[in-house]
Amino acid sequence: MFDRSIKIAPSILSADFANFGQEIRAIEAQGADWVHVDVMDGHFVPNLTFGPPAVKAFRPHVKTFMDVHLMIAPVDPYIEAYAEAGADMITAHVEAGPHIHRTLQAIKAQGVKAGVVLNPGTPAEAVEDVLDLCDMVLIMTVNPGFGGQKFIHSGVEKTRKIRKMIGDRPIHIQIDGGITSETAPLVVAAGADVLVAGSAVFKGGSVDTPEVYGANIRAIREAAEAAQQAA
Ligand code: DX5
Ligand code: ZN
Repeated sequence: MFDRSIKIAPSILSADFANFGQEIRAIEAQGADWVHVDVMDGHFVPNLTFGPPAVKAFRPHVKTFMDVHLMIAPVDPYIEAYAEAGADMITAHVEAGPHIHRTLQAIKAQGVKAGVVLNPGTPAEAVEDVLDLCDMVLIMTVNPGFGGQKFIHSGVEKTRKIRKMIGDRPIHIQIDGGITSETAPLVVAAGADVLVAGSAVFKGGSVDTPEVYGANIRAIREAAEAAQQAA
């Protein structure tokens, strides 16, 4: 049976940038299921973050599952480097180039899991013909580039559509942007199972007060699990 239990994937974009090793160990000890790494190029999105050497430095600290979200264009020339840096899954945007099918094939060829990402302005149908190449569909509920933005509600209906499109296939639905204990139930009821959360996980805590991360993760998980059971 495919595992559709709720998975919380804190985005280390909201972590202390001088302290990634400790931050990763803290969120995992406090219940994170995956670690979400936001890669930005200052071109596809208006912000810059992590090259392959940074991701490689995170790797030994991640004991769970490292989910690398590439917000870069072009994508294809960098897939091998991010796979070699230790990504367990690489997700690429459908908007980042003309050949998402080729990009997903290239990710799979590296022996890592592959995911396709849609921006808020991109319709659900854009991923229909590549679903069989995907282990996950990532639906953005903010315009990518920054943490701490407001949840865009049209992602809920899009999630419902994509969940229907997926049917029985073993494909996760991940949501990224503005996830809190208030918004998580909306997308989970529509069919999502993997929730990225940056500011809602890291707010109020630090590596010296990691129990705050734990409480934040628990609040999102409990709200999401209640919605999944009710659905
Ligand atoms: C946005 C990133 C997100 C971001 C989420 O471009 O892809 O992963 O860190 O941050 P919050 O949860 O604060 O919206
Ligand atoms: Zn992300």
